[in-house]
Amino acid sequence: MLYGKKPVSFCALYDRKGRKSREMYNEIDLDKIDISAEPLIEEPSRQYYFMSKCREWVQEFVRKNGRCPSACIQTFGCQMNAHDSEKLKGILDMMGCEETEDEAADIVIYNTCTVRENANQKLYGHLGHLKNLKAKNPGMVVCLCGCMMQEPHVIELIREKYKFVDIVFGTHNIYKLAELMHTYFTTGKQTIEILGQSTETVEALPQKRKYGFKSGVNIMYGCNNFCTYCIVPYVRGRERSRKPEDIVREIKKLAGSGVKEVMLLGQNVNSYGKIYDYSDGKIIHIPNEECTTFPKLLKMVCGISGIERIRFMTSHPKDLSDELIDVMASEEKICKHIHLPVQAGSSRILEKMNRRYTKEHYLELVDKIRSAIPDISITTDIMVGFPGETEEDFEETMDLVERVKYDQAFTFIYSKRTGTPAASMENQVDADVVKKRFNRLLERVNIIAGEQLNRYEGQIKDVLVEDVNAQDDTFVTGRTGENVTVHFKGSKDLIGQTVKVNLKECKGFYFIGEQL
Ligand code: SAH
Ligand code: SF4
Ligand code: F3S
Repeated sequence: MLYGKKPVSFCALYDRKGRKSREMYNEIDLDKIDISAEPLIEEPSRQYYFMSKCREWVQEFVRKNGRCPSACIQTFGCQMNAHDSEKLKGILDMMGCEETEDEAADIVIYNTCTVRENANQKLYGHLGHLKNLKAKNPGMVVCLCGCMMQEPHVIELIREKYKFVDIVFGTHNIYKLAELMHTYFTTGKQTIEILGQSTETVEALPQKRKYGFKSGVNIMYGCNNFCTYCIVPYVRGRERSRKPEDIVREIKKLAGSGVKEVMLLGQNVNSYGKIYDYSDGKIIHIPNEECTTFPKLLKMVCGISGIERIRFMTSHPKDLSDELIDVMASEEKICKHIHLPVQAGSSRILEKMNRRYTKEHYLELVDKIRSAIPDISITTDIMVGFPGETEEDFEETMDLVERVKYDQAFTFIYSKRTGTPAASMENQVDADVVKKRFNRLLERVNIIAGEQLNRYEGQIKDVLVEDVNAQDDTFVTGRTGENVTVHFKGSKDLIGQTVKVNLKECKGFYFIGEQL
């Protein structure tokens, strides 16, 4: 029986009899690793050793089934989560698995998110479906990973109620997928490994990108801000910046393989470069003269030939420096778009959220950015219904929205996250009241976003083409540096190319354009 919706083409590594058809991959020769010896200790060599070990399982699978095992990874979270999935795909690819989008696969990995309650509920819904699929294909390997797995109560539930789940790991050990799979293959027992905090940043592991011409790049991990509503610092651990030389090396390699656009990723990119000592569980900031700040890193990335566009997210308003604004204004390659989450318009609520800026400070920042980079696109995240939010507080949010005129705003209803300070705050707001405020806000931000978008009408912009249009294959879809979506007549040969397009007609959230 074949599993996988897509026709299962043969993977690069093995032929129908399970014989290897390609010797080298990603400059690492897995065959040169002596897998009869004890596992290596050093990373990432240790993981390449286990990828090589897992290939034995893959070869056996190919011999039995006449095809490679299919692997499906579902991503439930943010860009960082999606980028982690690309790393998992890279490992599976190297082991010789065939990627599929169909959940009826031989290996299924759910990369979870827990930022809001509905993200959790979504996972439990999916798990029921997966249980049925596994009943039809008992050899299926089911893995859960990502942010939700860092919550002890979730792990307890999986141990008790979801015994069909085979492998569970968290956010600090995604690089160990092959090692954990090997443990599962050799023991046949549910394998769970959750680490409290990353001790090291493992570099130089494989990645499999969704697009050939653009890629996310982690510049830092974790978060130290502890906004009182947010679970991210608990599930992603303390803030750690990658070394600038490692980031530059990775981006040069990406550029060499055809990547034109990079998105630098971090929960708070503006605090990039700070060095902390987390020994004894204490957070001690170590002053270091050689610190590379985020604007300095951006300049280094601008110097990499082949990279045409640089994006980044997320910028925390409290740490946004004049130096960053100057670099954004002067460097052509940096996209004229900034995502600057405000969360709320009331300074009283912002204080309770531990955001460490006021409404006035935020508005000043927006003015400063706009006077240095006049046509910049500004987007944001806004939350409604934080504990204690009064009608007056909400009006402050509406007022801020009117004044800033966001190009786009992602709006959320506050969701209580166990273990965060806000979860035990008094005056949790009535759900009906929150819903009404949310709808009022949503209506207004959408109208403003539409008006803002109109200002580009008739302008000629560089558009990086991403895909063939999903509805009409005589059209392609791309984005401007401001992150505006444009559809225009064109063929799939344009994918990955940057072309000049006249933004002819604004259709609310996107443009219909015409290539020059
Ligand atoms: N590091 C980013 C945010 C990452 S989480 C920053 O500080 O801007 C993405 C967004 O999810 C947040 O900006 C916030 O608006 C929303 N969010 C986080 N926790 C939430 C919660 N408990 N309930 C509702 N929305 C939440
Ligand atoms: Fe969460 Fe705040 Fe950190 Fe963003 S900065 S991830 S909202 S704690
Ligand atoms: Fe991202 Fe969700 Fe984790 S927003 S950091 S995947 S909790």
